[in-house]
Amino acid sequence: MKILITGGAGFIGSAVVRLAVARGYGVVNLDALTYAACLDNVAGVADSPLYAFEQADIRDRAALDRIFATHQPDAVMHLAAESHVDRSIDGPGDFISTNVTGTYELLEAARAYWVGRGRPEGFRFHHISTDEVFGSLGATGQFTEETPYDPRSPYSASKAASDHLVQAWHHTFGLPVVLTNCSNNYGPFHFPEKLVPVIILNALAGKPLPIYGNGSNVRDWLYVEDHADALLLVLQKGALGRSYNIGGENERTNLELVRTLCAILDEKRPLAQGSYADQITFVTDRPGHDARYAIDPSRIRDELGWRPSVTVEEGLARTVEWYLANEGWWRALQERQGVGQRLGVKA
Ligand SMILES: NC(=O)c1ccc[n+]([C@@H]2O[C@H](COP(=O)([O-])OP(=O)(O)OC[C@H]3O[C@@H](n4cnc5c(N)ncnc54)[C@H](O)[C@@H]3O)[C@@H](O)[C@H]2O)c1
Repeated sequence: MKILITGGAGFIGSAVVRLAVARGYGVVNLDALTYAACLDNVAGVADSPLYAFEQADIRDRAALDRIFATHQPDAVMHLAAESHVDRSIDGPGDFISTNVTGTYELLEAARAYWVGRGRPEGFRFHHISTDEVFGSLGATGQFTEETPYDPRSPYSASKAASDHLVQAWHHTFGLPVVLTNCSNNYGPFHFPEKLVPVIILNALAGKPLPIYGNGSNVRDWLYVEDHADALLLVLQKGALGRSYNIGGENERTNLELVRTLCAILDEKRPLAQGSYADQITFVTDRPGHDARYAIDPSRIRDELGWRPSVTVEEGLARTVEWYLANEGWWRALQERQGVGQRLGVKA
């Protein structure tokens, strides 16, 4: 089986690429190489005969048609997106363009290819989305696949729009799709503008550890390699037209998460005195910051038999070890535009 993976040079896409190649799938990694991409993320598989790379933009229909014709994939896993909520506040246009128009172009290219091949039943278009499309929860409750969409940020609104397009292409044109909506990922190769790497790298640099608002926002933390495993399972076994929520079963407040990271760092790279937690600083909240996301994972657990393999404490310990061992990787990315600056402050 050959899978066309979009966004395979990003954080989650590269984890899917690495796992898919390790499991013997053919992989075509299609990525525009935006500021968020890093081909080092897939260096470990770049020489595999199972792997090919195509630098292309999902908004470029001619390039998509050429890539489908050249590689003849059996499935598409669509992860390419603008993904950083703070950047979507400063500049929503790129999010609408890539996440909505880009998904439309990819759907149309996939449909033309699928129709041209005689509508093979086994073909799959797997759209990877976020739990942020469901909005914000109070202290109780969880998102199920039936929770009404209620996106709050330009990022989540653009992802919600893309989810609706994918469902429409299934219902109207019969395109064989599956969808997944996952919670916050963390793990190796996480771009150093997102919370977990920012905290690890600022801690090591002796800088303040910024926590938005009072740190009470709750997220359900999912280790990226568990997520990649779930995605390949849904691709293989998911029911047509069905969506699956993927969570880590690890709800933590941002403050708890940061304190856990500090405790792991205190153990693995102790300071001469004191704790990394002394660097915690509360900063102005993100405009429209959703209070709580929580996933009800029963559908993927009961129908497909999937559960996460690690607790957030285990996953964070692995993540910290990875950042300590891969300084060359993250130092290079810290030079990129906007990284290390506070973005998305003014609405
Ligand atoms: N990171 C999370 O916690 C999380 C949670 C839920 C859902 N998701 C979704 O998972 C997917 C991957 O997220 P991520 O964190 O790996 O993102 P990322 O920002 O790390 O990577 C995105 C990749 O897409 C590529 N890309 C962007 N625009 C493109 C375009 N126009 N054409 C081709 N390639 C383009 C980038 O170059 C990059 O390699 C996204 O669709 C995101 O919405 C992420």
